[in-house]
Amino acid sequence: MRINRTSPDIAVLSDELEVPGIGHLPVNAYVLLAAEPVVVDTGLSLPGRGFMDALESVVDPIDVEWVWLTHPDRDHTGSLFELLDRAPRARLITTFAAVGILSCERQVPLDRVYLLNPGQSLDVGDRRLTAFRPPLFDNPSTVGCFDDRSSSYFSSDCFGAPMDTAELATSDDIGYCGSASVRSAQHLWATVDSPWVHTVDQSKFLTTVSALRALEPQRILSTHLPPAEGRTEEYLDMLACAPHADPFVGPDQAALEQMLTGFEPVSP
Ligand SMILES: [Fe+2]
Ligand SMILES: [Fe+2]
Repeated sequence: MRINRTSPDIAVLSDELEVPGIGHLPVNAYVLLAAEPVVVDTGLSLPGRGFMDALESVVDPIDVEWVWLTHPDRDHTGSLFELLDRAPRARLITTFAAVGILSCERQVPLDRVYLLNPGQSLDVGDRRLTAFRPPLFDNPSTVGCFDDRSSSYFSSDCFGAPMDTAELATSDDIGYCGSASVRSAQHLWATVDSPWVHTVDQSKFLTTVSALRALEPQRILSTHLPPAEGRTEEYLDMLACAPHADPFVGPDQAALEQMLTGFEPVSP
């Protein structure tokens, strides 16, 4: 896990996951060093990722006031319960539906939950955070977060893109990759993660893109893309075209067997 700074008040805890045939998917969590510190998402649910060590190098968990869970998929909830245990003051910002999904794994004490629906805001001392559902998502409880002070939009799965290498996936800026290859990887991810994008009413979908444009975020901070500054218009155009991207069809059994022949045998 790498720790990057995208601005003086935002640290990125950058992990990645290799997906055979797809690439290296960035898996970021963010620490917003607001007057009341906020952790946005909590990494992969895989052992040995070093999430808490990385977090502690940025902020003492005792000082964490808020955990913003964009949605309860397992690539976002990895260290959630450990963090809540070690951050006794922290409240979990999420939605009613997400609390229900989380309760299948472990009950979250309701007095530690702060329910925030799209359009609602929360003051964290030196800025306001506004809940905004991204145009693309893979979980009905998804809610992103706009920080009016840093002009950053934490977009959850939206805008994600698999990268060619682990190094690129954990880099501190999307600018190391060419725009054309990022756009094509974003369309791939959009069709993998939100296959319903091909069935939407185009004009209604574009309304959600325009609503995000109206926030005028300077920085897009996706869980699945290196930080992107000054690229909002480019990425909103990418989203607007996503319904017309090639639908994703995953490998079938024959393709899997072909893949397996290329893997090194595991020694006993
Ligand atoms: Fe997801
Ligand atoms: Fe995700």
